[in-house]
Amino acid sequence: MRPTVAPFPTTRLRRTRRTPALRDLVRETTLTTGDLIWPIFIRDGENIEEPVPSMPGVVRRSVDLAVKAAEEAASLGIPAICLFPYTDPSLKTEACEEAWNPDNLSNRTIRAIKAAVPDIAVMTDIALDPYNANGHDGIVRDGIIVNDETVEALVKMALAQAECGADILGPSDMMDGRIGAMRAALEKAGHSDVTIMSYTAKYASAFYGPFRDAVGASGALKGDKKTYQMDPANSDEAIRLVERDLMEGADMIMVKPGMPYLDICRRVKDEFGVPTYAYQVSGEYAMLMAAAQNGWLDREKVMMESLMSFKRAGCDGILTYFAPQAARVLNAV
Ligand code: PBG
Repeated sequence: MRPTVAPFPTTRLRRTRRTPALRDLVRETTLTTGDLIWPIFIRDGENIEEPVPSMPGVVRRSVDLAVKAAEEAASLGIPAICLFPYTDPSLKTEACEEAWNPDNLSNRTIRAIKAAVPDIAVMTDIALDPYNANGHDGIVRDGIIVNDETVEALVKMALAQAECGADILGPSDMMDGRIGAMRAALEKAGHSDVTIMSYTAKYASAFYGPFRDAVGASGALKGDKKTYQMDPANSDEAIRLVERDLMEGADMIMVKPGMPYLDICRRVKDEFGVPTYAYQVSGEYAMLMAAAQNGWLDREKVMMESLMSFKRAGCDGILTYFAPQAARVLNAV
């Protein structure tokens, strides 16, 4: 029940905004370093940090420097790091075998980070796009993305990552039935403790552009991803997907992109009350950074305001390229 508000001047809402102390007391939402998951791009080689042009301040790191990034994250109080491999084009095929190679770049990085920084949670990406000559998240046959065959490939990928010690598996492919298939395979292989954060409500969004440059998938992609990623016009469908993923064994639910989809975050949290995350994606980061670089927006302020908006919308955490910058701000106060 909404409490009745006494009329002015009995109620003056400005009273509790008057000083920082009063504002502290009535603040409804908090953002902490514990809410952040840091996505990083990895590549082959040694001692390499290569800028991603469309994402100022973001780099692709070789495995040794990815380990350093994990150490930095841990020292900043960031609980999790999420790995996205830039795959050499020569390793991309139509069958995507590199995806479940136990020694692929991503799996080598998981092992290296877990060996050096065991306390940080390592999250992975499960989808075929970095390994697919077609650039799609699924296997393509006669121009069609084939669901069930893709799920078999994704299960192999999940098992390989779990074997390397990944803490959180992140299926971002949007095939039907993948969570249940992965959960069953993980149980059978003795990995019943491995967590799945499903990219549940993942929209077919133009905000992923800079990411596809970062992982080298934009050149390869033929067509679009609308037969598997969601229509930005839909909201009820997101609720059906969350229900399904939870029944199939997902532990955490993600909405992606973030800021244009805060209504979805709120609906998911209200209807299910389960751990809910948003991915503030590459295009959102690029927009804010571009405006900040032009002097049109205050970088630090819009960064913190955008992250707070996810918490206010009901999210338990945020995947964000701002994670280390934001953690530095949070740790400074
Ligand atoms: C691939 C994947 C994408 C992102 C995360 N995993 C891109 C896509 O679906 O095309 C996007 C992340 C971002 O834009 O920051 N399955």
